[in-house]
Amino acid sequence: MSLLRTSCVDRGSCCTDISCRYLDNQDIGSMQVCFKIIRQSQNTTPTLQTYTLDVEEGNTILDCLNRIKWEQDGSLAFRKNCRNTICGSCGMRINGRSALACKENVGSELAKLPKSESGIPEITVAPMGNMPVIKDLVVDMQSFWDNLEAVDPYVSTGARVIPEREFLQSPEERSQLDQMGNCILCGACYSDCNAREVNPDFVGPHALAKAQRMLADSRDATTENRLEEYNQGTQGVWGCTRCYMCNTVCPMEVQPMDQIGKIKQQILDRKDDQSSRQVRHRKVLIDLVKQGGWIDERKFGLQVVGNSFRDIQGLISLGPLGLRMLVRGKFPLGFEPSEGAIEVRSLIEAVQNFESGESQENVASKP
Ligand code: FES
Repeated sequence: MSLLRTSCVDRGSCCTDISCRYLDNQDIGSMQVCFKIIRQSQNTTPTLQTYTLDVEEGNTILDCLNRIKWEQDGSLAFRKNCRNTICGSCGMRINGRSALACKENVGSELAKLPKSESGIPEITVAPMGNMPVIKDLVVDMQSFWDNLEAVDPYVSTGARVIPEREFLQSPEERSQLDQMGNCILCGACYSDCNAREVNPDFVGPHALAKAQRMLADSRDATTENRLEEYNQGTQGVWGCTRCYMCNTVCPMEVQPMDQIGKIKQQILDRKDDQSSRQVRHRKVLIDLVKQGGWIDERKFGLQVVGNSFRDIQGLISLGPLGLRMLVRGKFPLGFEPSEGAIEVRSLIEAVQNFESGESQENVASKP
């Protein structure tokens, strides 16, 4: 897009400001960029197609895709609607990570990349991951919506007496929902979720962020049922492997992994280590690190998988691994606490006290 101010009759002599973009009849800030777009139809092999555009740093990736479609290739398919980071339609992978095309711009994308050898900077655009491609950058989001539905993303009404007017919340109660309420369901977190990639049962970070939004809602009366549901196997919160990708790519700062952590904590507060292996795993890990500053792996396997000699099948399953470690001289025969184990212990206790509602002053005074 040209930046020329053609109506400027004194062009080049009206001012001496060298930053004036109209000076000397030049398109200052405009450059050529090569867009490498992964294109694909359903059940076909993806191909790479390149398009070169004259663009400005401030152009969004969506602006550029629109121009490619309107000026060069009308067959290119992608989703868009609001152009303002509101509707969540334009999710795609830009230079390898999921993002909104209407939020990211050419300048910020190029700043993240090393200089291209050909001299023309390149931006790669691909469809989102973890969902099948319908055409080009358009993916089938059915599993995304189904998994959202699976966490019952509606405030319950069953336990409420119907008031004459609205179901009121205080400003403080409403503010508890702000962060999760920012989610625009664009699919970026789901697309880059490593856990979802290897575990098709996992509902995904978007669904669990919504689940925490329901748990935090003062009007919802089904907290205990919800926590039971989200505690199931690896389809709920225990399917999250804490890879951090959802937090990294979320364009709305919902921080889905942090929301999953809040649900886990509510489950851990209610369950003991006999309720499931996942709960035991977390509790044993914290206890062992508190004791020794790091994990005593001999005890960890026996306590988590063998359930402290209560689970004979679990113990037997550890046999082959233990033998292999012995043969390779990797079985830890003894255990030395780490340096700074006392500090580690006091840090963990401080966090635990903080989370259980004790004041910061009490935490600081602990040994
Ligand atoms: Fe609506 Fe990008 S077009 S979020």
